[in-house]
Parts: sequence; structure tokens; C-alpha cells
Amino acid sequence: MRASVSVSLDGFMESAWGGDDGLAGLDVVVGAIADGARQVHDQAQAAAIEGALGATGETNVHGEMVQVLDSAGSDIFVEAMRGCGRVAALGSEEIEGVEALGDGPAHSYVVQMDPVDGSSNIDVAVTIGSIFGIWRRSPGEAVSEPLLLRPGREQAAAVYVVYGSSTVMVAATPGAVNGFTLDGVSGDFVLTHPAITIPEKCEYYSTNEGNFGKLDARTREAVSRLRDSHSLRYVGSLVADFHRNLLKGGIFLYPGDVKSPEGKLRLMYEANPLGYVAEQAGGAAYSDRERILDIQPEARHQRTPLILGNRREVEETVRIISG
Ligand code: AHG
Ligand code: MN
Ligand code: MN
Repeated sequence: MRASVSVSLDGFMESAWGGDDGLAGLDVVVGAIADGARQVHDQAQAAAIEGALGATGETNVHGEMVQVLDSAGSDIFVEAMRGCGRVAALGSEEIEGVEALGDGPAHSYVVQMDPVDGSSNIDVAVTIGSIFGIWRRSPGEAVSEPLLLRPGREQAAAVYVVYGSSTVMVAATPGAVNGFTLDGVSGDFVLTHPAITIPEKCEYYSTNEGNFGKLDARTREAVSRLRDSHSLRYVGSLVADFHRNLLKGGIFLYPGDVKSPEGKLRLMYEANPLGYVAEQAGGAAYSDRERILDIQPEARHQRTPLILGNRREVEETVRIISG
């Protein structure tokens, strides 16, 4: 049954953020992310038909095979961020350097993004996502690397999009997390998940159990404890696993292991934005030892262990892992 009075993204942002000078222009940035998400949604739907699946043959700064949609998604969002006229600098998982997009007085934000998350799922029609961390830029602040190396607690907002059985964009600002679903008929994002808070009860745990053999003793103890009391749900797309745990109650963990002590996921454009969303929804985000949003970044593509979701479960898991 169609929602009686639907609130569009634009209408919501006008009413919720319009009066807050601290968020001036944020609606333009989030609106541009929504435009890019519509394009990525359409390209993901059409990829197989247009022969746009598979890899480009290049590898990115992480030495990972770049999928066609990774590259197309990055280009789409670079142009959307450039075109909106409010983003001074943009960092992307798919781009080694910093994209300087403008240094005028209106360019008052800096964005770090994972344009397509869960790339290994594109070819098998399983849920993927996009992730954006949004920091402020003071007028006249130089557009350079240090501008992009701020801790996650300084984010003005964070956004992710999950392209699943429906396409949902979740936007978090101080004290508020709201979800908007793409209406395939009108092309609008419509408010469908107002005021999201993570449930007290932790139903699920999400981790790659295939890595269990590489974990140190304490991390194995923490995972075994979760295995004994939760259902396992693991998609292999961070955004999909996080979104389910946010709505239904759960904990996601990609810990470090003996081979890669800092784990696989990236601090600036995976852990920081989703950690911000988790905290604004009443949850928590830690590495194996500290609050994600307090980590002072040293490099834009640095990795971090990530334990994310239901606050009580996350804190207990980190207590076990950190001993
Ligand atoms: P990306 O496609 O942006 O590189 O991210 C993939 C990440 C993340 O989405 C997911 O949680 C994780 O890789 C899955 O890793 P494993 O396949 O090692 O479990
Ligand atoms: Mn990713
Ligand atoms: Mn990615």
C-alpha cells in the first residue's frame, strides 16, 4: 500500500536542515549524491544487458581489480560532486590522489567516498552500495591532503546507498538518521525510514567465518561467543551487512588477522561514514582497540579493523579482543 503522504528527500531536507546554518549547502551535496545514486542504480540494473559487467583490467591503489561499475560509479559521483558547486575536495577509493573541485566561498564541504562497495557482488546480482563521509571546509582553507585527513568525529554528515531489493539512501546528521527509498516511478527518493535507531536486541552477527583460522586467540574467542548466540548473516557487501544490522539489530566485524593486522576495510570512506551513522543511531564503531571516529588518520587509504553495530555487543566484543 503506497504511503499516504510521501515526503520527498528535498522536502525533508528543507524542513529538517533548512534552518540550521551549520548545515548550509548540505542539502545540495546530498541532493547531488542522490542524483549520482539514481545513475549508479540504473547502470547496475543494465550492466549485464549492456555487457558492462566484469573487470576493467586495471588495479586500484589497493592492488584490487577494478570492476567496470567501480570506475563508472566513481566517475558519476566525481561529476555529481563537481557539478553541485559545494564540494572543495573529493577523495575516492578508486582515485589515489585528491580531486580538487573548487575553492570558492560556496565550496564548504569535503567528501570521502567508496563509490561502489561490495564490487565482488556486481557480477552475481547481489546487493552493492555507495558510502560518503562529509566534512566541513572553512572558507579559505587550503584544498590539500591535510584537509582530507580529519578524524571521523568531525564529520558534518554521512550518507550511504544500498542497491538491493530496493534502493535506499540513508543520511545521518547530528542526532538524526533517516532512510529514503528510490521510487522507480517518479525517480524521487521518498522518506520511508524516519528517525532510525538501532534496536537494543542484537539478532545477527556478520563476519567472514572463512577467515576464522587466521584470527588470533582473543579474536577467535570473540567470534565464537557471537556464533553461539546469534544468527549469521554475511553478504560480502559492507553496506548491505551494516544496513540489515542497523534496522534489525546486529554486529558486523572485519577484524585484523595474523596476515593483515589492520584488516581489510578503509578508515576514511568505509569505517568513518558508517561509524558516524551507527553512533547517530545509538550504536557504536570501534577498531580492535579504540573508537573509530577518534582515530587521527595518517593516510587517506589506510585500513582499520572494524567492529560496528549494536553498542553493548560491540563494546563486549572489543573488550574480549583487546584483552
Ligand atoms: P569494496 O568492494 O568497496 O572493495 O568493498 C568490499 C569490502 C566490503 O564491502 C565487504 O564487507 C568486504 O569487502 C568483504 O570482504 P571479504 O570478501 O574478504 O569477506
Ligand atoms: Mn567498500
Ligand atoms: Mn568500493
